[in-house]
Amino acid sequence: MAVLSDITGHSTCVGEYMQFVQYFRDRYSRLSEIIRGRINARPIESLKGRGFRRGGEKGSEEISIIGMVSDTSTTTNGHRIISLEDPTGSFPVLVRNSEKDLFELASRIILDEVIGVTGSVTNDGGLMMASKIIQPDVPNSALRRTGAKGKVVLISDVHVGSAQFMEDAWLNFLDFLKGDSDSEALKKMAKEVRYLVVAGDLVDGIGIYPDQEKELTILDVYEQYRKAAEYFWEIPKHIQIIISPGNHDAVRQAEPQPALPERIREHFPPNVTFVGNPSLVDLDGVSILIYHGRSIDDLVASVPGVSYQEPAGAVLEMIKRRHLAPMYGSRVSISPEKKDYFVIDPVPDIIHTGHVHTLGVQRYKNVLLVNSGTWQAQTEFQKRVNLMPMPAQVPVVDLADFGVTILKFDE
Ligand SMILES: [Fe+2]
Repeated sequence: MAVLSDITGHSTCVGEYMQFVQYFRDRYSRLSEIIRGRINARPIESLKGRGFRRGGEKGSEEISIIGMVSDTSTTTNGHRIISLEDPTGSFPVLVRNSEKDLFELASRIILDEVIGVTGSVTNDGGLMMASKIIQPDVPNSALRRTGAKGKVVLISDVHVGSAQFMEDAWLNFLDFLKGDSDSEALKKMAKEVRYLVVAGDLVDGIGIYPDQEKELTILDVYEQYRKAAEYFWEIPKHIQIIISPGNHDAVRQAEPQPALPERIREHFPPNVTFVGNPSLVDLDGVSILIYHGRSIDDLVASVPGVSYQEPAGAVLEMIKRRHLAPMYGSRVSISPEKKDYFVIDPVPDIIHTGHVHTLGVQRYKNVLLVNSGTWQAQTEFQKRVNLMPMPAQVPVVDLADFGVTILKFDE
């Protein structure tokens, strides 16, 4: 196992203005580079005054630009306007509602994502009429590596310390990992498990939301981790465990989050590796991008058709944008590091997220998208917002063929 990319120990951010500029430059240059391989784009600055130079002749020459979305709006006639910005300037792009597929795609474009647009500039030089929108996406040629053996178990949102933590189901799960299940099939599968990945929210934490203490059985966050560590000592030593933090964990809330601190790590067994959020990890030749998934809240709120009940659909929106948290300054508090750790490059074999407590599995161009569920039954807050969690269901991924088996431990 090797950690390929992780913020831990590399944070450079002190929050100064120039760091935000640098952060967005890195985001733009890396995402635009991915698109540049597919279109011949020119700097936005070169579009200015273009319509006049062409002297009234109907614009038919198509040109392309690549920019970060700085604004989106709908005109009174129901067309879509997307403002794009690159380091040389900004320019508005119009997508007509008569072009059905293009308009549908344009309605899904959100703030701060980087896209390429091909179109023609209007005669007055003030607007580009789009004929094509290109998201960075995954090339069709992306091949999946093979050859690894064994299985990786993906979980998240354990929430140890919560009154809704489903300890019985969790103990059944530990029995499975130990090879102590009643079923022979599960015993056989357990022998093949080589990795266990936890994508954040290992504990419920404290002070995460108002009146949380009324829903806690362990009121001290370090006690919550000590209890969690006890469980992990029960897991056989041949299973390599990777733990990444989430918004309930005891690290900074701004993302990327570093790995849990030594004060917490010291309680855990030696087969646990702690990584940051997000992290790109290599499991014997299979790369897995681990991200807790806070940005799913943004994607559900902004992209039509994306819902909490099918969380893998949100992850699909991430990979099309090649970015784990495209919207800046909404639910995800992003720390402006020199490098944008949220850019999805290289394309991993697996993206593993959590956070929303529902289970989802999708495949997209040889990438396996998995949102693992939770070990916490419905909370008071989730009742109020009508969110039905999918607890104690565990996706087990075969590293050879990427087949997914969902195991249920609440019966
Ligand atoms: Fe959670």
